[in-house]
Amino acid sequence: MRRRPVGGALPDQTEKGASKNQNSRLCCLASLSAFFWFLLLYFHFVVLAGHTNTNTHPNPNNNNNSINNYVGVDFTEIPQPLPVIRHDSNVNVSHDDVALKLQPPPRKFGFPKSDHDGETHAPPIGKSDVVGGGRDTKKKRFPFERALRASENKSDPCGGRYIYVHDLPSRFNEDMLKECKSLSLWTNMCKFTANAGLGPPLENVEGVFSDMGWYATNQFAVDVIFSNRMKQYECLTKDSSVAAAIFVPFYAGFDIARYLWGYNISRRDAASLDLVDWLMKRPEWSIMNGKDHFLVAGRITWDFRRLSEEESDWGNKLLFLPAAKNMSMLVVESSPWNANDFGIPYPTYFHPAKDADVFKWQDRMRALERKWLFSFAGAPRPGNSKSIRGQLIDQCRSSKVCKLLECDFGESKCHSPSSIMQMFQSSLFCLQPQGDSYTRRSAFDSMLAGCIPVFFHPGSAYTQYTWHLPKNYTKYSVFIPEDDIRKRNISIEERLRQIPPEQVKIMREEVISLIPRLVYADPRSKLETLKDAFDVSVQAIIDKVTNLRKDIIEGRTHDDFIEENSWKYALLDEGKHEVGPHEWDPFFSKPKDGSGDSSDSSAEAAKNSWKNEQRSHSRK
Ligand SMILES: *[C@@H]1O[C@H](CO)[C@@H](O)[C@H](O)[C@H]1NC(C)=O
Ligand SMILES: *[C@@H]1O[C@H](CO)[C@@H](O)[C@H](O)[C@H]1NC(C)=O
Ligand SMILES: *[C@@H]1O[C@H](CO)[C@@H](O)[C@H](O)[C@H]1NC(C)=O
Ligand SMILES: *[C@@H]1O[C@H](CO)[C@@H](O)[C@H](O)[C@H]1NC(C)=O
Ligand SMILES: *[C@@H]1O[C@H](CO)[C@@H](O)[C@H](O)[C@H]1NC(C)=O
Ligand SMILES: *[C@@H]1O[C@H](CO)[C@@H](O)[C@H](O)[C@H]1NC(C)=O
Ligand SMILES: *[C@@H]1O[C@H](CO)[C@@H](O)[C@H](O)[C@H]1NC(C)=O
Repeated sequence: MRRRPVGGALPDQTEKGASKNQNSRLCCLASLSAFFWFLLLYFHFVVLAGHTNTNTHPNPNNNNNSINNYVGVDFTEIPQPLPVIRHDSNVNVSHDDVALKLQPPPRKFGFPKSDHDGETHAPPIGKSDVVGGGRDTKKKRFPFERALRASENKSDPCGGRYIYVHDLPSRFNEDMLKECKSLSLWTNMCKFTANAGLGPPLENVEGVFSDMGWYATNQFAVDVIFSNRMKQYECLTKDSSVAAAIFVPFYAGFDIARYLWGYNISRRDAASLDLVDWLMKRPEWSIMNGKDHFLVAGRITWDFRRLSEEESDWGNKLLFLPAAKNMSMLVVESSPWNANDFGIPYPTYFHPAKDADVFKWQDRMRALERKWLFSFAGAPRPGNSKSIRGQLIDQCRSSKVCKLLECDFGESKCHSPSSIMQMFQSSLFCLQPQGDSYTRRSAFDSMLAGCIPVFFHPGSAYTQYTWHLPKNYTKYSVFIPEDDIRKRNISIEERLRQIPPEQVKIMREEVISLIPRLVYADPRSKLETLKDAFDVSVQAIIDKVTNLRKDIIEGRTHDDFIEENSWKYALLDEGKHEVGPHEWDPFFSKPKDGSGDSSDSSAEAAKNSWKNEQRSHSRK
């Protein structure tokens, strides 16, 4: 239920707009019947075509299904001593994309040395004196040296921070906003793309929000918020040769959202293929083969990681395109096993226009009286035997100190931003179990309310938002491994009561201090001194590209980099490059017997959320 609802029409999303119109019911009925017809036809087609692997009813224990191979086969044995090359027996499992994913032996992080020669031939952009007049003819030249030197220019406040923004044809962004009605099958996204992507303003009727800066923001709106926020970035440049990184303002999330349901794969892939074709023809591409490029999609990575050319498979294949493998894509949920995507926060409802708005909010969150020890807003996952949500709901219901907002039935308060935020504001701890995929918008809403998050899977935050959250997760959150609930049914209440009040206060202060970097400021103005989620992300990308450039110049290649261990590298301290066995390995592997912690992990998120989409709509 977590992800797919493009408009937040789903209960579990704590994001539904303020108003509920009558039309949505009619609309739902219409979409529903269309959807059933589609399913019916689709089913017939598949059966008649004699496919046996329809993925319509995925069996989590069946590792031989080509989809399940995604996490099933290739991550089965996380090697103890690294590096190890695996997958040999699996290279034939599926089509090109899978082969792309499975075949390459441990990938290189930097450029292989042999690449350098090729790259030095790339024409420098704009200026001809890129290398500075050959002060050392023996020294290798790199087309990005001018940009690197810019960072050493101490008299330039933007030195090393310039961003060049590609001037994409409007079909890659603005045109999608003009056709906002088509952005979601379920929700009219037009109201959510208003106000530079923030959505309609929220009135502070119940005094839960502040009077200014609150909007009914859709959880998938980061494409356009980020893009608009970039327009306020203080170090934009028209000269790509000094750019520390290159932004591609493609609305990748909006693009795929249009076609997730009921469109063939060629339709779903069309804009992505068009985009990389456009990008690779630009002179900027050849400077680093796209490794200095980044783009943003406000959806989960699994929407862009279709593994096969089967029509029944989910999403598009953007993130498997060779060009996209060289770029960085920022998404609200990244893949633990891939190096080309990075987690950034979901949007909350708060979009401050100035520092003072943030400080005022923080002060208020510090002073609140919180009458609940813990709370949970969400729906159970009855179809998912691995889900701990049912147990959390049971525990909450039977506890006198837990507040529950159930999202499952009828008119739910779960849809109302003010009910949700009010609950978070009156709780010390907020439970954030995974849904169909690892992450939830709710985690950010609760931290915004100064509520200490309780996570049950490291993929829900710790391995995701490493740019935005402290590495030491015990400072701002509580971790209760899913198995403690699933197998041992430990009491959450008891576990939380063990934390001394003094420590709770310190943790809450940490959460509140994180608020600025977790929210997206109003893209139409600019915070004076505070760094918001956008600033943190851009700085992280700049650091990444700069480090890569230095690595290239100094000939470091990181040959032992193993892409599927990406989540471990992300947890490393600055300057460290070695990874080994990790206590969280069981969360990110999938034993063949299907009993592992992550057997319902994100490769299936997409399909499950498809089912949940049906379920939630037929429930109405
Ligand atoms: C997968 O296939 C192999 C042989 O093709 C078979 O031995 C094995 O039992 C199958 N595993 C599952 C979980 O179906
Ligand atoms: C995999 O494909 C290669 C060539 O495409 C073929 O020679 C080999 O027998 C295949 N292996 C399996 C296990 O199907
Ligand atoms: C350093 O930055 C200043 C201010 O932007 C600029 O005038 C100067 O030309 C730069 N120096 C170099 C060597 O690029
Ligand atoms: C895919 O769907 C589009 C319409 O959305 C249609 O024009 C196109 O012919 C279809 N392609 C294939 C290969 O079925
Ligand atoms: C991606 O980068 C690699 C290594 O730099 C390069 O060999 C490859 O051609 C690049 N791919 C694309 C599509 O540019
Ligand atoms: C993490 O934070 C906790 C609480 O502040 C502290 O006790 C612990 O020593 C820290 N751990 C590390 C590795 O810094
Ligand atoms: C788990 O514990 C709670 C009390 O904390 C209890 O109400 C519930 O019945 C237990 N569930 C199982 C499956 O044992």
